[in-house]
Amino acid sequence: MEKINNEIDWQKEDLKYIWHPCSQMKDYESLPPIVIERAKGINLYDTDGKCYKDVVSSWWCNLLGHCNEKISARLKEQADKLEHVIFANFSHKTIIELCIRLSKLMPKGLVKFNFADNGSSSIEMAMKMSFQYFQQVGKPNKTRFMALTDAYHGETIGALSVGACDLYSKIYKPILMDVIRIQAPDCYRCPFNKNRDNCDCECFIDAQKQFEKYGNQTAAILVEPLLQGSAGMKIYPALYLKKLRKLCDEYNVHIIADEIATGYYRTGEMFAFNHAGVSPDLMCLSKGLTGGYMPMSVVVTTDEIYNAFYDDYLKYKAFMHSHTYAGNPLGASCALGVLDILEEGSIQKHLKEVTLYFNNLIKENFLNLSFDGKLSAAGAGEVRSIGLINAIELVYNKNTKQSFDYKTRLGYQIYKKALKKGVLLRPLGDVIYFNPPLIIEKQDMDFVVKVARDCTIEAMKELN
Ligand SMILES: Cc1ncc(COP(=O)(O)O)c(C=O)c1O
Repeated sequence: MEKINNEIDWQKEDLKYIWHPCSQMKDYESLPPIVIERAKGINLYDTDGKCYKDVVSSWWCNLLGHCNEKISARLKEQADKLEHVIFANFSHKTIIELCIRLSKLMPKGLVKFNFADNGSSSIEMAMKMSFQYFQQVGKPNKTRFMALTDAYHGETIGALSVGACDLYSKIYKPILMDVIRIQAPDCYRCPFNKNRDNCDCECFIDAQKQFEKYGNQTAAILVEPLLQGSAGMKIYPALYLKKLRKLCDEYNVHIIADEIATGYYRTGEMFAFNHAGVSPDLMCLSKGLTGGYMPMSVVVTTDEIYNAFYDDYLKYKAFMHSHTYAGNPLGASCALGVLDILEEGSIQKHLKEVTLYFNNLIKENFLNLSFDGKLSAAGAGEVRSIGLINAIELVYNKNTKQSFDYKTRLGYQIYKKALKKGVLLRPLGDVIYFNPPLIIEKQDMDFVVKVARDCTIEAMKELN
């Protein structure tokens, strides 16, 4: 191993071996990987002891702070008792307790739990379940899926097919499924010139049109409820989900709720669907499920769907889908740790105290940004928020809502500057966003928002 002053050069060793996810590895020539040694709360510490505030919850999964004492204690206890066991024909108390407790929190009707080990796999499972359900209840023509424009549901081939972010999926189009695409709400650039707080979801008309054409052939529609995260934290009204529930009932189409990023109070409620007061037919959970400790996901569904698979073995109706680590006890123990904390109620109280503060702070710091010269019309086109998630869409022209040329990589410039100042932001294009662990305190909010503002101003000035 390469040594500097007898110390191992971890960055160099990393780059010798590791191909990092979702990265152009050439970028690492100027910005090598930051090697994190330990973490606590919202703080990550690198090998030199430098602190980074993790306001993206390490890819939106860390729910209650890093190295949370209660979750860690659960995990350690479980590791000494049972680390893993095959989940076909075998079970264990930890996962049974998890389902008992989680079932009390689920939207009405979601009662059966089928586990996998990452978000994308749960999406694939939900799609297969929906498809097979219709095959087994005498509707073999229902073979297709619908999804929204700009959707993101993961990276495996099925999940990528229902997703619609070109950056991730374009090159794979020849090997992806043909999905029926519905125009997603776009509240910032609303084609009906309405406002998300008081509109009637006029944009739902496209869903109606597509259902009229394809509803009979469709098994399920996938949605990221209320928040299209990877699309740039695009937020839309709960009314859209209510209308969707009605339309799906009319055409006998399942709703697959992708609550992988929105579940567990990220939108202020346990699930984003709760805002709409209706239930999906299948719900995918991951990320916050284990507090971001262990890879685990679950599809939760109804008795009606479950029963369509329940028969004598030789009828071959079983759901023959498995992942080696399904039902992993270590993940389940962390998930119980998360529920221990949520059931105490202090997190919900904390959210009530800080949510508006955070949103106002961001508005105060970003809505008044102004620049000279060729950027005289540039700035924060919109600050949008749901729960503790806040996003600032930077635009080249606030009047026309024109985006920056993507070649400027403005978001990436801001990202690099913020890292130097000890904040881990990870803008989505030119959308800067905060999606911190729910335990974030006001003084950290003050710090990270100031850094984000300073870095935005610096990066924008460099464009001028
Ligand atoms: C909404 C949504 N769906 C699915 C996924 C995929 O989950 P995973 O990365 O665990 O496969 C993600 C991950 O960011 C997500 O945000």
